[in-house]
Amino acid sequence: MKKYPIYIAAMAGLLSLAATLPLQAANESVATTQSHSQQNAIESRIQSLLAQMSVQEKIGQLALRDWGTFKAEDMKDIKQAIREGRVGGFLNVNFSSVDNNAFEELQRLAVEESPRGIPLLFGQDVIHGYETIFPIPLGQAASWNPELIRNGARIAAQEASADGIRWTFAPMIDISRDPRWGRIAETLGEDPLLTSILGVAMVEGFQTDNLSGPTSLAACGKHFAGYGAAEGGRDYNSAYIPERLLRDIYLPPFKAGIDAGMQSIMSTYSSLNDVPGTGSPFLFKQILRDEWGFDGFVVSDWNAVMEMIPHGYARDAKHAAALAANAGIDMEMHTDTYEQFLARLMDEGEFTEAQLDTAVANILRVKLRLGLWENPYPRAKTPAEREQIIRNDQFLNAAKEAAKETFVLLKNDKQLLPLKKGQTVALIGPLADAPHEQMGTWVYNGNKEHSRTLLPALRAMVGDKGKILYAAGLEYSRDTSTRGFKAAIKAAKKADVVLFVGGEEAILSGEGHSRGDIRLPGAQAQLLAELAKTGKPLAMVLMAGRPLQLDQTLEQADAVMMAWHPGTMAGPALAEVLYGETSPSGRLPLSWPVGAGQIPIYYNHLPTGRPATDDNYTRIEKIGREVFQHQPGNSSNLLDYGHKPLFPFGYGLTYSEFHYSELELSDSTLDADGQLHVSATITNTGKRTATETVQLYVRDLVGSVSRPVRELKGFERITLAPGESRRVSFTLKANQLAFHNAQMQQVIEPGEFHVWIAPDAESGLQGSFTLQ
Ligand code: BGC
Repeated sequence: MKKYPIYIAAMAGLLSLAATLPLQAANESVATTQSHSQQNAIESRIQSLLAQMSVQEKIGQLALRDWGTFKAEDMKDIKQAIREGRVGGFLNVNFSSVDNNAFEELQRLAVEESPRGIPLLFGQDVIHGYETIFPIPLGQAASWNPELIRNGARIAAQEASADGIRWTFAPMIDISRDPRWGRIAETLGEDPLLTSILGVAMVEGFQTDNLSGPTSLAACGKHFAGYGAAEGGRDYNSAYIPERLLRDIYLPPFKAGIDAGMQSIMSTYSSLNDVPGTGSPFLFKQILRDEWGFDGFVVSDWNAVMEMIPHGYARDAKHAAALAANAGIDMEMHTDTYEQFLARLMDEGEFTEAQLDTAVANILRVKLRLGLWENPYPRAKTPAEREQIIRNDQFLNAAKEAAKETFVLLKNDKQLLPLKKGQTVALIGPLADAPHEQMGTWVYNGNKEHSRTLLPALRAMVGDKGKILYAAGLEYSRDTSTRGFKAAIKAAKKADVVLFVGGEEAILSGEGHSRGDIRLPGAQAQLLAELAKTGKPLAMVLMAGRPLQLDQTLEQADAVMMAWHPGTMAGPALAEVLYGETSPSGRLPLSWPVGAGQIPIYYNHLPTGRPATDDNYTRIEKIGREVFQHQPGNSSNLLDYGHKPLFPFGYGLTYSEFHYSELELSDSTLDADGQLHVSATITNTGKRTATETVQLYVRDLVGSVSRPVRELKGFERITLAPGESRRVSFTLKANQLAFHNAQMQQVIEPGEFHVWIAPDAESGLQGSFTLQ
């Protein structure tokens, strides 16, 4: 039996009660990687550099230029700017139409020719792999496995640092409750605890506990703050988040990341409560620095400083520079308002040299911690060395193993899955052999040439035992042509089982790619309906960057497995799970809506005065004509979509079954400084070895403000053989029950609590205790 650690809220550093604690926590986390004497040495090095630097050089450190945007005719000027110390770093150095291999040359200019020889910092969006593409972050979150995420980030860092990248714009730890929002694919789901734990794991994977090691990347938590709450799911749009909700739901993952030593933070494009994030002293000064004691640096999002003009917040570029710099944005990404205006703003008294020094110090601190002076150049010195690192067999295998843990089995009637090798399978659908699409969003360095798709993987899996009849039916996910239907139906009729692989192409999620209609695009639903008519057992694998509205396809398919966008190794990973070499173990990191009209829907919502139950309202199709106003019932529901998500947060099936029994609490009361053990027996009652994610939830029944109907407080993954049982025990401490009250104080309020050990957010064994 495999044993996994238990993850609880306190581990993620979520709940420090005193206002001074976060400051200590941030410093302590750095101390784990650096001794006090190393820290002192860094601080005095910063001071001596600052003493030598001109104002122009200082402002230069704040400039992050996008190499990918330069044209051949810009080369001379930008190289001269490096020589003069007017650039602090670049992003997208290998995403250029002019020179993709400039890391070494640019760095040499900075180190050997600029006045102070300060190395450049090279950053990039290394989001879910570099060349070995791992599942999209939302998929990785479905593993509920921090170790998997840590390992994926470690591999990405090893690959990216081979080319010279030492900073990644990840993890994205925005909470989102809106699957219409295209960037939900990049998130780790809807829950603050899960996002905190997995975000911290990603930070640890990128940074390791030795940031100056040549394979370490500085991580960047983004987007501070509230980006995931864009109105209506429209990217870049306004977010309105009451401060209490902000502090209890949206901010904890950032705080946890900082306590784990995360070195940088990126601002959000969106406005939060009417103020563009990039110009918010409340976020960057008050919360990040004063309350949390963050000592890394803050970078604006790409062009976000200038976007305060169309936001209607800055009058012009100079005003934008003043707003951003005064809000605490240390580094400006892409635009050059700091270069143009900061010196003038200083002359005019709108910004001070002391403020400038603080911003420069924040950046130099991270550069020094990264050991850029000792290791300024790409780690791989030759193409042969690079070859050894990039996409090596060990990395590809890790990507496959990771993908296998992200698949969420949503339905499996009559145990259609796993497939049997002797069967004839009709493999149908636009994503069964789509090497580009399976990689998902935010893939700069992955190449479809290296993707392994399902079609060849299935053929290899069944060998000469069975037959795979392939007919895509549709060429791509949005294809509306029914031209290919005939061949698909013909294949289905000849088969024992139909395996449909559909969903969304990569481009339908990610930045700027939100959807109002989250149904299967194109003619996929139509094709599925035709396939269902053949009467053949129908299994559906979905690849998408978000949960989709399934409508009647959920009834038509006997089995449904959500595979997100699984990355380079999608094919072999899927084949192994579909044929039962591994039982699926993924769990939803968000609530799966019935339809877009039900959004936002999330498990940790507040109770209402009229909570809906299965029998206190009438579904739309059952309401009689001209009935009396109140006859269908008045409760909080949608007549057509009901009151529950299609699948709850935490949900996922496997090829075995688990039984929960014997819930036990070590006491009926919990003291403010005590702890409570909550345990239950989990038994594998099925026929296969499988992994269960056991979840701990609580509900605070009465509070000074209304409290959520459930909150995740811990989880543990256990793998059990058939017939095997295990006692799973969680330790609950009072500080895990804290929240912000109406006065914005973080408090623990005595009273009655419900507690569950559960397989998902809607079921489980319930007990209760009193916090005193
Ligand atoms: C995105 C960021 C990203 C940055 C740099 C922006 O458009 O919002 O998440 O890190 O570009 O590529």
